[in-house]
Amino acid sequence: MRLQDCYNSGDFRELARRRMPGPIFHYIDGGADDEVTCRRNTAAFERCDLVPNVLAGVEHIDMSTTVLGQRLEMPFFLSPTALQRLFHHDGERAVTRAAEKFGTLCGISSLGTVSIEEIGATIRSPKLFQLYVHKDKGLTRNMIERCKAAGFDALALTVDTIVGGNRERDLRTGFTSPMRLNLRSLLDFATHPRWAFNYFTHERFELSQLKDYVQEGTHVAVSVAEYFNTMLDQSMDWQAAEEVRKDWGGPFALKGVMSVADARRAVDIGATAIMVSNHGGRQLDGSRAPFDQLAEIVDAVGDRIEVICDGGIRRGSHVLKALSVGARACSGGRAYLYALAAAGQPGVERALTLLREEIERDMKLMGCRSLAELGRHNLRFR
Ligand code: LAC
Repeated sequence: MRLQDCYNSGDFRELARRRMPGPIFHYIDGGADDEVTCRRNTAAFERCDLVPNVLAGVEHIDMSTTVLGQRLEMPFFLSPTALQRLFHHDGERAVTRAAEKFGTLCGISSLGTVSIEEIGATIRSPKLFQLYVHKDKGLTRNMIERCKAAGFDALALTVDTIVGGNRERDLRTGFTSPMRLNLRSLLDFATHPRWAFNYFTHERFELSQLKDYVQEGTHVAVSVAEYFNTMLDQSMDWQAAEEVRKDWGGPFALKGVMSVADARRAVDIGATAIMVSNHGGRQLDGSRAPFDQLAEIVDAVGDRIEVICDGGIRRGSHVLKALSVGARACSGGRAYLYALAAAGQPGVERALTLLREEIERDMKLMGCRSLAELGRHNLRFR
């Protein structure tokens, strides 16, 4: 199987599965507990049908939108995800350069593996930094200051990782950052020689935003759940979120809002956007799918804050459904991560090409020339 044989996210996933050591694949692919939410994030879109219009003169269509003060050439952007250089040795370098080519927003994680400064110096397109509030207040402040200095455009505070989700695949495989060297991992490397060669012959793995403050994740092997449980500030509350917004001072999103009550409070603390998200089903299993929860949030706050549908997106038609409900844009992690793992920058570019083509084709088939023409009138729920 080659990159040119990949036509959808299932194909990228399969290629990624073949190319990476098992524990890394399962870290990306897995969710919490029984992975019900993880599956439902995508399945939710199947409860909803599109009702197209025809004869609309769709020779030229416009799929641009504005998110967090930034113009995006397509209504999908790349959610911040952790540990990218484990998946492919180019990691964030590949992902940010691909996002730049497509004129869309790219998220960089607090658990990223290329530095805030390098990203700031290399891409001109919109950049969002994802912040975890650490117990070490100096570290949290330091990341915010570095983002300002590096010219990041927006900050997203993640609010759904107050403790680590129960990711049983990671428990079974023993996945940690960095990877532990033991008999099992050596066997994994031997059976994935290309991945292992690249991993060991490129710049040493590190958590670039954190390494000057914490050993864990860079020099001391820990699971992501252990990292959350020991490093992140469980006392974080609305006041803390508002302080982060003030310290940052620019366009600000809360990532991981699911309830209407919290969406209203996000408006109250002056957030620019909320990312309706359950962290890809990796935290609270049984949590509702973002798409299912979207309408009530849009109805409550859609005129006062940008609402982004994050998670489960695998098709252009999913984007059109979420936008029809009232989302400003969609975002996702696995939607590009499998492709990164499968083939680096060309992989991410192919994933974005396919998604953009699907959005364009489906807009034409829907009889829509611009995103503003999408609305609930063109949806029916089963
Ligand atoms: C995860 C975090 C790190 O879900 O975003 O693994």
